[in-house]
Amino acid sequence: MKKLTLAVAGSLFMFAGSVQAADLVAGQAAFEKFACASCHGADAKTSSLPTYPILAGQHADYLEHALRAYKRGQAGMPASANVRNNAVMGAMATPLSNADIENISAWLASLPSPLSTSK
Ligand code: HEC
Repeated sequence: MKKLTLAVAGSLFMFAGSVQAADLVAGQAAFEKFACASCHGADAKTSSLPTYPILAGQHADYLEHALRAYKRGQAGMPASANVRNNAVMGAMATPLSNADIENISAWLASLPSPLSTSK
């Protein structure tokens, strides 16, 4: 029984170790490094123009999907629900790595925002 418990605990530990958690600090750093704040605001909700969307408090999976869709559009993929053709955001999203996208999205989702009533 003890051996079994150890084996289960060991495999759980290995599983936890293999899942890469999003890094909020790296997400904020990438948001600043890639100059996202110049349009969306340092707090990601005080945009420099009202037409620039509020990102703070959005769901992380929604933001990740949007950023990947801009990359696909910029890469010339044909229009679909998974492709966004936007010259500005296509150019901004293209240099982002998968880790950048995940970290930025997780950081944005963690921010207080008028889009969310629970934060
Ligand atoms: C030059 C201004 C500008 C910069 C810089 C900029 N954005 Fe955007 N962003 C926009 C505009 C305009 C839109 C709306 C585009 C559209 O209509 O699809 C947008 C849309 C988005 C969306 C989709 C939001 C939604 O609700 O669907 C995300 C996510 C996003 N930007 C993230 C970023 C990130 C991350 C960066 C930095 C890598 C960045 N933006 C840099 C102007 C900018």
